[in-house]
Amino acid sequence: MQTEILTIENGLDKAAELIKNGDVVVFPTETVYGLGANAFDAQAVRKIFQAKGRPMDNPLIVHIADIKDIDKLAVDVSDSARKVIQKFMPGAITVILKKSELIPNEVSAGLSTVGIRFPSHPVAQAFIKACGVPIAAPSANTSTKISPTTAEHVYEDMQGRVPLILQGGSCQVGIESTIVDMTTDIPTILRPGAITPNMLAKVLGEVKTFSGKIVVAKAPGMKYKHYAPDCDMVVAESEEHAWAKYQESKNAGQNPVILARKDYLDRLNQNNQFEYINLGESNEEVMRNIYSAMHTAQDKYNFIICQDFGDEGVASSVMNRVNKASGGKRV
Ligand code: TXA
Ligand code: MG
Repeated sequence: MQTEILTIENGLDKAAELIKNGDVVVFPTETVYGLGANAFDAQAVRKIFQAKGRPMDNPLIVHIADIKDIDKLAVDVSDSARKVIQKFMPGAITVILKKSELIPNEVSAGLSTVGIRFPSHPVAQAFIKACGVPIAAPSANTSTKISPTTAEHVYEDMQGRVPLILQGGSCQVGIESTIVDMTTDIPTILRPGAITPNMLAKVLGEVKTFSGKIVVAKAPGMKYKHYAPDCDMVVAESEEHAWAKYQESKNAGQNPVILARKDYLDRLNQNNQFEYINLGESNEEVMRNIYSAMHTAQDKYNFIICQDFGDEGVASSVMNRVNKASGGKRV
């Protein structure tokens, strides 16, 4: 299969046509690129699992471009769920609700719930509208690889497995949506993201944060190894630790790189020469650039040393991904 990359101008009709014919299409969102199929077409949804090599017991998020569709896809939507929807959609959030009968088991992986997301990316919205059906989509990477934040990341990973990638530039948020389960007594964050616990608590009063430990795997995907670059990665507790590890790795004949914020790199840079990727100045920039940096790092280097960004605001969501990528290894 040939994989094409087309823009919204020259590719929208083709994308909608592919979806209507039960095929898959990769599309950009503000978080990461998604691998979409008609959410009502069980056969088409199976193609997503095939293209990704994803286990069938891991449910998919359903993407919409109109708030009104929520009442077709979900039942028993609580007032607090409506508040979250009102406040954060369209945007980087996925809301878990009780599913309606329209959702095939292939999408929900047999659960009684469904994750719904309304992306803010204009290309995502145009694509979903042109398809005329809700779009089931996971991130557009093969299982266990890093999520893609550019069309080129997708091409590199999925070339030959998908017919079409819609071009949408670099994802502005950069990590996957916050997932909040609105079916539990206290709303529960199953995956942290750009919408932080504080932001949700302001709307809901109370929210259970993602603990990092999965006692019961409510987001089944969280039990799989995820977001891992092809080479080893560690988190450094401090600049000193990063530098010591960098030297050790160099001496062992490796080709290491340090991923960090600008201020951190400036402190390291004073007397030292080393390979690095500058992730920017704010936590939002770090979030936007982290996956892209991991993609570059795994292509050019063979050992990644990453700054510990702490747990303020979205930094803690970034660290959730970094800790997965490093398998929790710290120096
Ligand atoms: O930002 C995002 O959410 C991106 C873009 C493409 O929208 N999508 C994404 O999908 O990250 P995926 O499949 O890579 O991750 C979805 C996660 C998985 O861990 C899955 O287990 C969980 O959401 N999930 C999906 N439906 C669920 C449900 N009904 N209950 C609990 N967890 C669910
Ligand atoms: Mg994913």
